Amino acid sequence: MTAVQDALAAAADAARRAPSVHNTQPWRWVVRGDTLELYAVPERQLTEQDPDGRLMTLSCGAALHHALVALAASGWKVSVSRLVGEPLAVIRAVSHAPADPYDMHRLQLLQVRRTDRRVVTDEPVEPAVLEALAAGARRGGARLHVLNRDQVLQLAVMIEHSGEAQRHDARMQAETARWAGGSRASGTGIPDSALPAETPLTTVAERDFGVAGSLAAGEGHDSAANYAIIYGDGDERSDWLAAGEALGELWLVATGRGTAVLPLSSPVELDFTRLALRRMLGDVGWPYLVLRLGIADPEHAGPPHTPRLPASEVISVST
Ligand SMILES: Cc1cc2nc3c(=O)[nH]c(=O)nc-3n(C[C@H](O)[C@H](O)[C@H](O)COP(=O)(O)O)c2cc1C
Repeated sequence: MTAVQDALAAAADAARRAPSVHNTQPWRWVVRGDTLELYAVPERQLTEQDPDGRLMTLSCGAALHHALVALAASGWKVSVSRLVGEPLAVIRAVSHAPADPYDMHRLQLLQVRRTDRRVVTDEPVEPAVLEALAAGARRGGARLHVLNRDQVLQLAVMIEHSGEAQRHDARMQAETARWAGGSRASGTGIPDSALPAETPLTTVAERDFGVAGSLAAGEGHDSAANYAIIYGDGDERSDWLAAGEALGELWLVATGRGTAVLPLSSPVELDFTRLALRRMLGDVGWPYLVLRLGIADPEHAGPPHTPRLPASEVISVST
């Protein structure tokens, strides 16, 4: 492989740490000449909870974001074509220069990023940090709407309804059971160590994965948490990809500012709650994902990293 191809493969490798719905990692990469192609993997799509592939594409967008951060950290300037079909995106390496320490720091942040399902502390997220997160989402290509207190209460009711509907749907339950709990030797899914041992007592319920994990979630509440919706103008595949890039960028900023992020996707998985979220946005935007933002207990280590598929399963080189 050439030096460019090594850098592209290393970026795809770093992108394995990207967040994805139920840790499905629904992406694969092909190094072809001076380009890196990103493909969705429908075999790892949640066909019950995500029949349109919205969350799958969003997860691929987060992986795209991570790969771009890794390339910047290794000093590569790139051009990116975001496509409507397959591949979803093509990154072309254009030129190389000494890496900037700022870009290297951004990559480090992505390496420590994780989903934190512990309850948050009573310390509020500073308004300036919320501003920085919104700016991160905009850089990624979407927007962030932070809910007011009344809207948080509406969200709590919505999530109760979506959770209830999913609990009574045997196929959805079976799908969740395939991805959550246990020790996850397969390299995918959410292990016990990332799931709360007891249901946290919060106003807005965390997702019920149907299994008790082993994570000490703490005894706090979520009264100091902020809830927000990542949203945008369109509801096409290109918009979902951008939403994923926005999620990646926002989460990078949050990690740097000591802010824990918990995505809550059940309300966007069902039409009736997704429409209710859309009404919250004044019917002018499409909701892609709900997030809980808060300060986690700094005295205790967060959950360990969740597993990832080996590089050999997600990266190939075309000769
Ligand atoms: C599109 C998307 C939707 C997600 N939805 C939820 C959710 O509803 N509840 C939850 O606890 N985690 C959710 N997550 C977090 C994933 O489970 C998590 O990213 C994955 O298990 C990998 O773990 P990590 O983020 O700690 O690396 C979501 C993540 C993404 C990208």
